[in-house]
Amino acid sequence: QIEPHYAMLDADTSFTHGAGQPLTTNPHILGYVQEQVALTRPASVYWLDGTRVERDALTQRAVSDGVLIPLNQTLRPGCYLHRSNPNDVARSEHLTFICSEDPRDCGPTSQWLHPSEAYTRMNALFEGSMQGKTMYVIPYVMGPLNSPFSMVGLQVTDSIYVALNMLIMTRAGKVALDQLGPTSEDFCRGLHAVAECDPDRRFVMHFPKDNVILSYGSGYGGNALLGKKCLALRMASHAGWRDGWMAEHMLILGAESPDGRVSHVAAAFPSACGKTNFAMLQPPASFGGWKITTVGDDIAWLRPNPADGRLYAVNPEAGYFGVAPGTSAASNPHAFAMVASHTIFTNVAMTPEGDVWWEGMTEQAPDQLIDWLGQPWNRATATTPAAHPNSRFTVSMWRNPTASPMADSPTGVPIDALVFGGRRADTVPLVLQAFDWSHGAMLGATLGSETTAASTGQTGILRRDPMAMRPFLGYHLAAYWSHWLAMRGRLTNPPAVFLVNWFRRAARDPAAPGYLDAARAGRFIWPGFGDNMRVLEWIVARTRGETGAAESLVGYVPRAGDINLAGLPGAADAADAERILNAASHICLDDWLAETRAMRAYFDEIDAHRSCPALGETEPQ
Ligand code: GTP
Ligand code: MN
Ligand code: MN
Repeated sequence: QIEPHYAMLDADTSFTHGAGQPLTTNPHILGYVQEQVALTRPASVYWLDGTRVERDALTQRAVSDGVLIPLNQTLRPGCYLHRSNPNDVARSEHLTFICSEDPRDCGPTSQWLHPSEAYTRMNALFEGSMQGKTMYVIPYVMGPLNSPFSMVGLQVTDSIYVALNMLIMTRAGKVALDQLGPTSEDFCRGLHAVAECDPDRRFVMHFPKDNVILSYGSGYGGNALLGKKCLALRMASHAGWRDGWMAEHMLILGAESPDGRVSHVAAAFPSACGKTNFAMLQPPASFGGWKITTVGDDIAWLRPNPADGRLYAVNPEAGYFGVAPGTSAASNPHAFAMVASHTIFTNVAMTPEGDVWWEGMTEQAPDQLIDWLGQPWNRATATTPAAHPNSRFTVSMWRNPTASPMADSPTGVPIDALVFGGRRADTVPLVLQAFDWSHGAMLGATLGSETTAASTGQTGILRRDPMAMRPFLGYHLAAYWSHWLAMRGRLTNPPAVFLVNWFRRAARDPAAPGYLDAARAGRFIWPGFGDNMRVLEWIVARTRGETGAAESLVGYVPRAGDINLAGLPGAADAADAERILNAASHICLDDWLAETRAMRAYFDEIDAHRSCPALGETEPQ
């Protein structure tokens, strides 16, 4: 499959490869780059144009610089491995700041810094930081081209790895300069340097009022690919608050039923809770005729459409930056097929044949590997994982065999259902439907997820992650919740809201309703992954008014027989399948009483932070 925006460029005969030169006369773009050159003093400046010619040339340069390691081109054509600095493998939430004049504009989930102090601190770091290096200038669009949803960004960086990732993750190059035009100054200014990659000299700073992002000292995706978490979530959530729309940590999928009707679902799960997997779901065999297509796997921009009163969504990204471990031909066949070619792998292990490997890719590891640190790894004696647990793949969304053609639609897709979900060992049933928008917003606001302690089977520590946005909010949480509630007034036909839990564990007490048997005690009840189609079918049917529900105290729940259990994996027979569903769906009133008290306590805690304390007094995140 070819990527439409690259295909378009190849066909455009009026456009020749820019060879690293600026393809714009926009004085604001040129002026911004000039200022960054004066500050960081690079040896040379390279402007990205977004062509394949350029991508291939930069890839070769990255290989000769040792930034990318070519994988076996017969086994993984167009695939490369990058090993990051071992101190730089995840987002740095405690070094991430929102910089606004008034400290009350952000918190308590985000950290505040006064803009003047932030600029002073960052300018000192960036001063002369690119000496002897090439500065890459990356114009990019977040969102489909020529869409009212879209935003243009300009990122300058000292990292060729970041440049190559941005070419996959965004619509980058000449298309962005064309969309901006020769005079507009409406673009997000982003300055980034990995520099010496020192965790003590590392910050990610956002300036919503100035439309500026400054990121120093890290090459990790969430810190360094400025279009993603920084622009598309933190800056965009702030812009949406101002302009009446929402930027959310949500996947977007299309669910086509056998009669050809398509419904769209957007779902927010905290990091590492299954968005990429759910977005690419392959229905089980008993769901012949159902087809799931992916619009996005991580971020949704949602706008009310005054014409029909519905909520429309676009995926601002053009690629997936997905978690590698756990991805296998069985758990996520589409993702597995997608990363067979033209993928950048970061911090995975390498086989002696020059292929990739990570925990969960096959049942057993190969005998010998080179681990993510570049060291020999031997299965018999290894005490550490071969791939880093947060190792990732970067791949164009158009390589997904079930990519939705609507992912390029400038108007977006109308959303029929919003879904929230986290890891909850108990209390939260497999699925419930909120009574209305406000109830749904409350379920989202109090979304909780447990840190995993899977090895011991113990219940983890519950952490509230409102709307799965805790690390990604660009303004105050209380204002965000008000914005969510107010959004209802802009929708005459709002999506239905659901809460799901794929991670409930079987009770250990034989007398408890969630008990199955000794062998399954403490284990995940629900098979998950492709079998989540069974829940998705009920959700879609609810939005179409085609199935009823039972009313419980905490929401609408499926009635007996509403969920298709044919061929449920792990079920001995039809009766056992029903026991599994009942154990996964059980609503225990004592647990929910405790849950509602905990929700109340959480709201009180946020309320106490209504005016955010100054830097130094904020809680570490
Ligand atoms: P980010 O990309 O960091 O925002 O995370 P994500 O929400 O995309 O998470 P992802 O889909 O990569 O899944 C993370 C982990 O959840 C992996 O270990 C998966 O194997 C596991 N997982 C995903 N779906 C299911 C499911 O339905 N059931 C179970 N038990 N595990 C799941
Ligand atoms: Mn994410
Ligand atoms: Mn993901």
